[in-house]
Amino acid sequence: MEVEEQVFEVITNRKSIRKYKPDPIPRDTLERLIEAARWAPSGENAQPWRFVIVEDREKIKAIGKVAGMADRRQFSAEFVAGETEKRLKKIKDPKKRQKVMEKLTGGHVSSFLENAPLVIIVCGKKDVWDLPYDCSAAIENILIMAVAAGLGTCWVESPVMDVRDEEKIKAMLEIPKGMKVLTAISVGYPDESPKPRPRLPRDELVFYEVFGRKEKNG
Ligand SMILES: Cc1cc2nc3c(=O)[nH]c(=O)nc-3n(C[C@H](O)[C@H](O)[C@H](O)COP(=O)(O)O)c2cc1C
Repeated sequence: MEVEEQVFEVITNRKSIRKYKPDPIPRDTLERLIEAARWAPSGENAQPWRFVIVEDREKIKAIGKVAGMADRRQFSAEFVAGETEKRLKKIKDPKKRQKVMEKLTGGHVSSFLENAPLVIIVCGKKDVWDLPYDCSAAIENILIMAVAAGLGTCWVESPVMDVRDEEKIKAMLEIPKGMKVLTAISVGYPDESPKPRPRLPRDELVFYEVFGRKEKNG
């Protein structure tokens, strides 16, 4: 297969995986993921990213708990603010709606993190202007490299979305003050094969010369 096709296939085959086999991730495979991140672009080549690799079960469990609590808070707040309907509007079956509600407000969206065999905590230097962009490029490289290595991942922001939770994670992993934690990435061999999430049609996303013009020569 041509490289172009292989790269395209890997990119389009990536899906968030939230169920993992317990098998550990071989060292050289993990190194590959980190190498892929290291080669990401960054503003002024600042390379502000740092990666804390967590395999200790107790720590992973604790990170998963923080993530679950954060989801519970967020979705409960959404419910109180009357915002939940927007999320559920496509679901007509009342039983299914109830199930989704329970999953959201019960903190069962990101708590799967607890069962990941490995978690990469991505943090970076707060004083670097392009920090979120730089780290996002590195994160995506990890996710893509993981697919090529037969691994599943999920980009999980929940445990650090709230600054108080971020502080908990920082304390647990002894991350210094000058660093911001951007996300957790769960990594493991997939134990599920979810359907791809829908994507917006190209037509809604791409314009020519001016925003809104859909025809190349129109
Ligand atoms: C910035 C960002 C934050 C995310 N945070 C979470 C999260 O906290 N919990 C979770 O389960 N998934 C999280 N995801 C995964 C998204 O839900 C997922 O990428 C999206 O639904 C598209 O599905 P796909 O990755 O399978 O294509 C996050 C993704 C991104 C890019």
